[in-house]
Amino acid sequence: MDFKNKVVIITGASSGIGAAIALLFTKKGAKVVMVARNEDRLKNVRSNCEKFGHQPLVIVADVSKDSEAKRVINTTVSQYGRIDILVNSAGISKIAGIVDDNALKVFDEVMSVNLRSIVSLTHLATPHLIASKGNIVNVSSIPDFGALAARTFSYSTSKAALDHFSKCVAFELAPEGVRCNTVNPRPVRTEVIAHTGVSKEEEDAIWKEIEKVTALGRVSDASEVAELIVFLASNKARGITGSSFVTDNGSLLQGVSMSTSFEFK
Ligand SMILES: NC(=O)c1ccc[n+]([C@@H]2O[C@H](COP(=O)([O-])OP(=O)(O)OC[C@H]3O[C@@H](n4cnc5c(N)ncnc54)[C@H](OP(=O)(O)O)[C@@H]3O)[C@@H](O)[C@H]2O)c1
Repeated sequence: MDFKNKVVIITGASSGIGAAIALLFTKKGAKVVMVARNEDRLKNVRSNCEKFGHQPLVIVADVSKDSEAKRVINTTVSQYGRIDILVNSAGISKIAGIVDDNALKVFDEVMSVNLRSIVSLTHLATPHLIASKGNIVNVSSIPDFGALAARTFSYSTSKAALDHFSKCVAFELAPEGVRCNTVNPRPVRTEVIAHTGVSKEEEDAIWKEIEKVTALGRVSDASEVAELIVFLASNKARGITGSSFVTDNGSLLQGVSMSTSFEFK
């Protein structure tokens, strides 16, 4: 798979799955555009990438803000003149139960990053993707298939909606030769749990619990997800659109996705 001269925007590239995607696309020869809010972390990932290929372009942006999403697309096009692939990996997970006082605040926050920002970036990138006959890969999750865990309704709803949105976009853009798919991973050892604000001990306990409820008894490495995304973005997947690809260590084989004995506080 050769991505020479292909311009790939990756959101959430400062850590976890997004960082692994940036590294793999760089290794495959792409011109990578890395987007996230934390400049130091982005620069760390960039210095890792540049050992293997083209130096990625770093854009520090909060994609949940319309003006910043616009800046991501405009900066990319003014630098490289085209967009071939959009990978939306930026995402947050915040905990609040439906009866909690902050339920709606958390819901709005999660939806604005996990869904609305992707709608916005897709809207802005589409004319360029039509011009390049490019494609979109969205990083979803597996709550489509059941509730993830108690008090995660915001996250679960955002990801289920993202799968549906991706199918609608795939249908609408198919006549233009633009594909759109999702990758639905679980569990992948990244910063995702640390970023919810839990302590290190709680984080370790959660990963241990999660590991136990997968059929394979394991947690994925972010590079495994990156490999699948790069495949879907490549010409080898030219017949694939509107599909969701589960890579979940067999979690769904046990019925409900990720129910563990861990209770989010
Ligand atoms: N790890 C798993 O088990 C798992 C399972 C299923 C799905 N996923 C999904 O995979 C994706 C990547 O998650 P991860 O596990 O790699 O977690 P992570 O390590 O926490 O990475 C999340 C990324 O999103 C970025 N981000 C968050 N809010 C942003 C915003 N408003 N604007 C721009 N960037 C933003 C973060 O960067 P900054 O903080 O620098 O902005 C970071 O780079 C997410 O969509 C997540 O829901 C993960």
